[in-house]
Amino acid sequence: MKTLNDFDFNGKIVLLRCDLNSDVQNKKLLKSERIKEAAITINELKKKKAKIVILAHQGRPGDSDFISLKQHSKQLNKYTKVKFVEDIIGKKAEKAIKELKIGEALLLENVRNLKEEFNAEENKITSFFSKMCEIYVNDAFSVCHRAQASILLPKYIKKSCAGRILEREVNALSKIKLKNTLYILGGAKPEDNIKLLGNHKVLSCGLFGQVCLINKGKKLGEQENYLNKKKIFIKIPKIKLKNVKTPLDFAVNINGRKEISLEGFPNKNEIFDIGSITQKNYIEEIKKAKAIYMKGPAGDCSKKEFSKGTFSILNAIANSKAFSVIGGGHLSDAIVASKINKKKFSHISLSGGALLNYIAGEKLPGLKVLGIK
Ligand code: 3PG
Repeated sequence: MKTLNDFDFNGKIVLLRCDLNSDVQNKKLLKSERIKEAAITINELKKKKAKIVILAHQGRPGDSDFISLKQHSKQLNKYTKVKFVEDIIGKKAEKAIKELKIGEALLLENVRNLKEEFNAEENKITSFFSKMCEIYVNDAFSVCHRAQASILLPKYIKKSCAGRILEREVNALSKIKLKNTLYILGGAKPEDNIKLLGNHKVLSCGLFGQVCLINKGKKLGEQENYLNKKKIFIKIPKIKLKNVKTPLDFAVNINGRKEISLEGFPNKNEIFDIGSITQKNYIEEIKKAKAIYMKGPAGDCSKKEFSKGTFSILNAIANSKAFSVIGGGHLSDAIVASKINKKKFSHISLSGGALLNYIAGEKLPGLKVLGIK
């Protein structure tokens, strides 16, 4: 694997692909570990006298968390100085890149504003950056499962390497010992999670848990409208659900947290967390496990009262003797918020879907193009 040690960055324009994708509530960016960690490679490149152009995304077009990176630049500025320009491959971006001085960093606008980002072939994005930049650094392990333009740039920029976060994540992969694993799958991306369904025992939670429950035939009421509106609901074949445990109760918001058992559904309430019965049940499974992989939160961790399910599961994992891997930006943020000692987990990854795809045995296009096996 080529790293920051392998090139002379002095005076070079470096394109750095970071993953700044973070939790957004009502268009407001929440505090993010991914953004904090991104500063590590940026600062090293500054010391190496590079001119740094940062490319990143937030959300997916059409989703409520699909916002500008302006707030990200403000948060990133707490850890390292970056300028922000509301452009990606236009005249404004070109001018700002050309004006960069040694040791300066420039964050461009959300690359997913361009439809070409979703195209794996040569296009406007690949031709602009291969013309403007001399070295490509990928520090976005968590996006390496996407065959997207900003990830496949090493095809066009020959001098390419891993940033420090990607390097750390790839080195950790070899240490991951996931045999007879208990999978705890939450969050809001069921299309990733279903790759791990089959023969292993799975505890489902978060929006994914609700999707599994509905697929098992349970009616949830109002929450189903929410899942459909957000395009989160997907059909899962019954056979895939045979080893999947689903929640037994939920927390809703009726003047604060109120728990309702499964018999109380369908109803007109939206769901924000798993309830105490589910937590107790899942914790018993955690105590028996030899290896645990958890991806995605169990509930809405942007609100303290609905962080309870996620925190209690994380606590149980931290106190178990199992080899544990925790994956995803939201869960990394939840560990910080819960104040659980990070050392109590065997590996914390900033990556959700990419790590899951790797564990499911898939080759990640972003690693392949960097020559990493
Ligand atoms: C993530 O949060 O897992 C990465 O940023 C990738 O986001 P995506 O699932 O929208 O491609």
